Amino acid sequence: MHARRHPVQPALQLPLLLLLLAVAPTVCAHVTALIVFGDSTVDAGNNNAIPTVVRSNFPPYGCDFPGATGRFSNGRIATDFYSEALGLGRDFVPAYLDPDYGIQDFAIGVCFASAGSGLDVATSRVFRVIPLWKQVDMFREYKARLAAHLGAAEANTVVAGAVYAVSIGTNDFIENYYALTTTRFLEFTLPEYTEYLVGLARAFLAELYGLGARRIGFTGLAAMGCLPLERARARALGTSGGCDEGYNAAARAFNAALAGMVADLGSELPGAQIRVAEVFEFFEGVVRDPARHGFARADVGCCGTGTYETGYTCGAWAAAPGGTCQDADRYVFWDAVHPTERASRLVAEHLINTTFGRFE
Ligand SMILES: *[C@@H]1O[C@H](CO)[C@@H](O)[C@H](O)[C@H]1NC(C)=O
Repeated sequence: MHARRHPVQPALQLPLLLLLLAVAPTVCAHVTALIVFGDSTVDAGNNNAIPTVVRSNFPPYGCDFPGATGRFSNGRIATDFYSEALGLGRDFVPAYLDPDYGIQDFAIGVCFASAGSGLDVATSRVFRVIPLWKQVDMFREYKARLAAHLGAAEANTVVAGAVYAVSIGTNDFIENYYALTTTRFLEFTLPEYTEYLVGLARAFLAELYGLGARRIGFTGLAAMGCLPLERARARALGTSGGCDEGYNAAARAFNAALAGMVADLGSELPGAQIRVAEVFEFFEGVVRDPARHGFARADVGCCGTGTYETGYTCGAWAAAPGGTCQDADRYVFWDAVHPTERASRLVAEHLINTTFGRFE
């Protein structure tokens, strides 16, 4: 069998070109693909393919999206909205390990993220998920497959013209350092650990650049002390009735160090556009004044009690009558850690406006 080439009819070329121009997205520069690294905030289902307990490929996850895909939400996640806004012709980003997709699908966007992962390799060991270095290895493999599929020159164009979205770091605090699940809390003071993490982020970004990435948005940490899980923990300890301000201060300190590192690294790497996607203030604003954005509740998640459930513990409520809230759109959080689709869309819009839709 051999593929037959169909000569393009000249009469069709001009109208097609005009049509393409007419529907071109309103972003400044042509974006070829969206490539995603990180944790559960952006995992589109890679964890379905690995033996970990950090999973969400079962109801009630995905009840507002074609099924439970492994996204930690009732529907789409932030990166899905980026893909739509960047005009890539697809309103979601498929997971690299999803057997339903192949290199032809990944050519316009792919997700290497793994829920539960962190900048620190010790964090990814807590739940045996895909460490960041391995996500980079998967990207290397992807590049080789892309070159075999499109030819080397075209593959390079895709890699250089892609937007890279990185969202990672929260688990290094909430699942590792603060949770005392590894020895990091003995080895580092909090400021030292923050510096260590930012050093790891720097090495990761430099490696991505070396592999051809140019437009990289690294999402800063959100107000992790306001996650329903952390509120409930602080309440149980009797230290707080609201957000855990210690956790929030750690996120702010990390974000400040990240911004300094990114400015410094960006000036060292010719042609690099590395930006921090600042999410803290915006998301904290939503959490502190949910009504302003049409939400009824930001203190608990929609799933179960909303105070501790995530993954399987949320799944346990799937069959229970009233196991999830009536209307997820009224909640900022879907489970005790992750936002609803509606909250993700809002945050994604903000980050597209400020960062992901603004690369030159
Ligand atoms: C993003 O920008 C659009 C267009 O300017 C605006 O309508 C929208 O409110 C902005 N969204 C957010 C969340 O900032």
